[in-house]
Amino acid sequence: MPDYQIAPSILSADFARLGEEVDNVLASGADIVHFDVMDNHYVPNLTIGPLVCEALRKHGVEAPIDVHLMVKPVDRIIPDFASAGASYITFHPEASEHIDRSLSLIRDSGCKAGLVFNPATPLSYLDHVLDKIDMILLMSVNPGFGGQSFIPATLDKLRNARRRIDDSGFDIRLEIDGGVKVDNIAEIAAAGADTFVSGSGIFGCAEADDPNRYDSILKQFRGQLERAGSI
Ligand code: DX5
Ligand code: ZN
Repeated sequence: MPDYQIAPSILSADFARLGEEVDNVLASGADIVHFDVMDNHYVPNLTIGPLVCEALRKHGVEAPIDVHLMVKPVDRIIPDFASAGASYITFHPEASEHIDRSLSLIRDSGCKAGLVFNPATPLSYLDHVLDKIDMILLMSVNPGFGGQSFIPATLDKLRNARRRIDDSGFDIRLEIDGGVKVDNIAEIAAAGADTFVSGSGIFGCAEADDPNRYDSILKQFRGQLERAGSI
């Protein structure tokens, strides 16, 4: 089985007790913390910045933090997130004037770098920078909000991205973001994704008000991923 990683998006967590939410979801078996940064400019919503990333690190979070920048421009804020403890920093190519430079800036700051593709953004942006990329993130919704439905055309795009990664021989994760739920994660994995962001699909499925409240949903996600190989 591929090294599947589950990345809960804290966009759907209870922000009034964020540290506890992140502790609980990691204790239930999540691998990566997906951290959505929105600027009310590149996307029509406003969320959290480096201060909150740093607060999670100070709280004791040791898991990788996957910073998904939905901001324009991107370069000014990259070093701030690196200092705040980001592990991955990904950005949308449309939001950077100089994609190659932004990717290098992320790696030079000590983080892993990634490009994010909106549903209508072509994968050709990868053509000349694959050697500078640690993660490809395909959006399966238009960015800006949690709780939207998975756009089915993303499955073909995943297969295409998987081919590009395998042909390149580089060690690049293929992440999917938007509308990932128990009932579609197996099909998404079978199309080539290995890293799965889910916000409402995880935080919206808390079982009860106890520290193990994400056990059941994460177990269901893992069960579906085991099934993916036989699709
Ligand atoms: C949307 C964000 C997502 C969002 C996903 O712009 O990038 O990470 O939290 O939410 P769900 O899983 O609810 O579609
Ligand atoms: Zn995201």
